Amino acid sequence: MVEDKVLIKDWLAVAYAGDVADKPVKMTLLNERIVLFRTSEGIKAFKDLCIHRGAPLSYGKVVDDCIVCPYHGWRFDGEGKCVRIPQQPPEQTIPPKAKAIVYPCVERYGIVWVNLDEDAIKKGTPLPFYEEFDDPSFRTVQAAPYVLHAAGPRVVENFLDAGHLAFVHEGLLGDSNFPEIPDYHVHWKENRYVSDEIAIYADADGSGNYATLYYTYEILRPMTARLKKVNYENNQILSMLFTVLPHDERKTTVFALVTRNYALDEPDSYFRDFQQKVIEQDAFIVENQKPEELPLDLQAELHLKADRVSIAYRRWLGELGVTYGSDVTGLR
Ligand code: FES
Ligand SMILES: [Fe+2]
Repeated sequence: MVEDKVLIKDWLAVAYAGDVADKPVKMTLLNERIVLFRTSEGIKAFKDLCIHRGAPLSYGKVVDDCIVCPYHGWRFDGEGKCVRIPQQPPEQTIPPKAKAIVYPCVERYGIVWVNLDEDAIKKGTPLPFYEEFDDPSFRTVQAAPYVLHAAGPRVVENFLDAGHLAFVHEGLLGDSNFPEIPDYHVHWKENRYVSDEIAIYADADGSGNYATLYYTYEILRPMTARLKKVNYENNQILSMLFTVLPHDERKTTVFALVTRNYALDEPDSYFRDFQQKVIEQDAFIVENQKPEELPLDLQAELHLKADRVSIAYRRWLGELGVTYGSDVTGLR
């Protein structure tokens, strides 16, 4: 496992709920192999390892709300308890040690979130919030999961970076004739960082309609952020929840929700395809940045006033003690 004392106690997005159907789904979270499967009581997440002989449970199948190991057919219920060992008579007691390791797992906003801290639910560790998802005047689209060969903090910081829009996304989101970022500040609000509204001449959704949009960035957690773009001339709002699944130090998957309060009759595929183009453009940068780890020492790279959201992000990762995907050289 990637030993990061913060992320191993955080809710991390691992899949879209709709992608966990009748077969087990395997994935890697912080180098830990995990299997997801659906039961009548919701999605379950186990360590992808059978206690009997170490076979991956994800190669098995789901039967009657249980996951069945592919090797000798041991059956584990949604709580991880072994309820059937085919090699012994049914009346024989199953050893209580015959259990799967279960991780807290919840479905929210159409995303499956897993926490490697077994007490997360008891402790009430909060999930990121995204109220637009439940607001009937908005419509949400899931962008396709996007795999990046980059560390999570570089990927999140790129999402929080207003200055690149006019260059990396020229013609899609930004215009290099209008690259200036007006001064703004970032504030701590309850449990997250929130930027002031930043006026940026941009296109909200690749439709070709440029206007002054007001961007608000929020850093919710080390791997989760959100963004709201408001056009006050027509009250159109486009929001995003952006969350990164850290597979390991150099590989991540992005899950992004794109929510709008306009063009509700437009096909969702338009917004999905648009987001795909945006992230393909970002991939070219984030997969090639050096060092691969985000430098948390603010002396390590140069910063402008325009970078205040990134500065807040780096500082917060340092204060929290995040080490995953981070270069902590120079931090006390
Ligand atoms: S290894 Fe899973 S049942 Fe034997
Ligand atoms: Fe970008």
